[in-house]
Amino acid sequence: MFCDDCAMTVRGREVLGSFTVRRVRVEEWRSLRELRLEALRDPIAHLAYLERIEVALERPDSYWQELTRMAASGTSVGQFVAVNEHGDLSGTVTARVTAPGEPDYIGETSPHLRAAVVGVYVRPGHRGGGVLQAVLSETEAWLRVVGVQQVRLHVNEHNVRAQGAYRKCGYVDTGVRVEMVDGVNHEMVRDLRTAHGEVRVVEEATS
Ligand SMILES: CC(C)(COP(=O)(O)OP(=O)(O)OC[C@H]1O[C@@H](n2cnc3c(N)ncnc32)[C@H](O)[C@@H]1OP(=O)(O)O)[C@@H](O)C(=O)NCCC(=O)NCCS
Repeated sequence: MFCDDCAMTVRGREVLGSFTVRRVRVEEWRSLRELRLEALRDPIAHLAYLERIEVALERPDSYWQELTRMAASGTSVGQFVAVNEHGDLSGTVTARVTAPGEPDYIGETSPHLRAAVVGVYVRPGHRGGGVLQAVLSETEAWLRVVGVQQVRLHVNEHNVRAQGAYRKCGYVDTGVRVEMVDGVNHEMVRDLRTAHGEVRVVEEATS
């Protein structure tokens, strides 16, 4: 069982209340479609997603059902969500796992099993409250179970809020720049062997 049933409840900053983080469920495809369409309408969607709203709106229900089915089970794709106290989805992260030698979402191959974080979105009313940290942390816990040792992502050079958010979550800019359809993207990585979901504070030993 890969975290399908392992949910955690997190207390966000006081204005946001508590929310539960878990893997998506097959029957949630309509909610996930709505969340995705909302993300694609975000004022900075052109800096955040390769898909365009016009394309997404044309997709049939069967597309969203299949996407959700794949994200809800198995070890290739895992999508995680934060669910607030009203039962609404407040944020999401998707991880795509690539086998050794298999081209990943930007066509690169690696001799190692690795993963990319994509489709990151936190609804405006829930930003700044720890939703991203919580959902990323749960996603990374799943990736560790799957056997992934390093996760990476690409963030547009002009998407400074996302860059700041990822840095807070322990992602490090490798200095690699990738030209994509939305412009230049920064590669950021997190080593899951040394990271354990929280910021490690190293204290000086006292005698
Ligand atoms: C990106 C996103 C998921 C981040 O989640 P969030 O809850 O907004 O992130 P946070 O507020 O916790 O962290 C943002 C950090 O970036 C920094 N930041 C925010 N706005 C900034 C700005 N305009 N310039 C520079 N830094 C900024 C801050 O340091 C902040 O950290 P702080 O809490 O220490 O002040 C969310 O804003 C979102 O969904 N954006 C739209 C879609 C998107 O960009 N997705 C990512 C695609 S790669």
